[in-house]
Amino acid sequence: MHCRRLSMLNGSWALLLAATDVNAAGPLLGALSQDALRGAGPQAAHVLTLWQITLWICMAVFAAVLIACAWALWRAPRAGADTQPDLSGLSRTEPGPRRTVAAATVVSIVLLFVLLAASVFTDRALAGLALRDAVHIDVTAHKWWWSARYDDAEPARMFTVANELHVPVGRPVIITLHSEDVIHSLWVPNLTGKKDLIPGRSATMTLRADRVGVYRGQCAEFCGVQHALMAFLVSADTPEAFEQWAARQREPAATPADAAALRGRELFLGTTCAMCHAIGGTEAGARHAPDLTHLASRRTLAAGALPNDPAHLAAWISDPAQFKPGAQMPGHAFGAEDLQALVAYLGSLR
Ligand code: CUA
Repeated sequence: MHCRRLSMLNGSWALLLAATDVNAAGPLLGALSQDALRGAGPQAAHVLTLWQITLWICMAVFAAVLIACAWALWRAPRAGADTQPDLSGLSRTEPGPRRTVAAATVVSIVLLFVLLAASVFTDRALAGLALRDAVHIDVTAHKWWWSARYDDAEPARMFTVANELHVPVGRPVIITLHSEDVIHSLWVPNLTGKKDLIPGRSATMTLRADRVGVYRGQCAEFCGVQHALMAFLVSADTPEAFEQWAARQREPAATPADAAALRGRELFLGTTCAMCHAIGGTEAGARHAPDLTHLASRRTLAAGALPNDPAHLAAWISDPAQFKPGAQMPGHAFGAEDLQALVAYLGSLR
């Protein structure tokens, strides 16, 4: 049912697709960390501390309220089988409970101020991240994917990627946030709190990853039917691995040597693909859809919706709507051979 286009694919593709659960993105992304309780950097640690303070205070207040409630019920006037409850105490002025209520009100106000102060100090701590030698990334949210431009003082060193960020461990990152259409929110729980991306405005977010790993991020503001499938990955690499990755991303796409991939390249540039996507080093330069210059270097397709492998790529190109109904990419009825060539070309974009 998930592969309505299976009939279009030739035997080997059909076998490959049948052997792959095309909805297997769950396990793939499940192996990655998206967990605010396992912070991998100072910003996440500040947010976690605030969360813990809030949790413990709220738990203590909740327990105190329940205990007070149970105590009041226990000492409330009771009726026996044939006696009325003794309500005379209700009309007596009791200074004890009045003092208790006054004290509880004061304690509540003090605790709310503690939470307010904790929140202000967290905000200051988040803003206090040392930003010397920061990596600058300009992220734009789209329905329903992310584009990211790595800025550099030297324009030739800038490059654009989609749906997968890499950051060097130990170096601060300044992310400028924009939105192309509606309000989205960028959230990588392992690295920092969330921040909205608002059309017509820009905001910044700072973070630092201190532990190598791949962290899952998620759009955290309802933005339409595919909000839940607007994910992305942040790979925190060693500084050397990051520089290697960045150097590769700066390169234009290599022209493939393989005949099928060459045919795929022709198809890509000669059909509607090039009207939305960009591939560095070719005439395709549109920015309506993810930059595909180094598509094969990414772990996922369609903003974290699918694993990046030939079978999923073929199924995605044929009918994106079966995975992300409402996604703006239309289905493409390529013949089996053309589809295979196109996938071979995209697979060569390492
Ligand atoms: Cu973008 Cu929710």
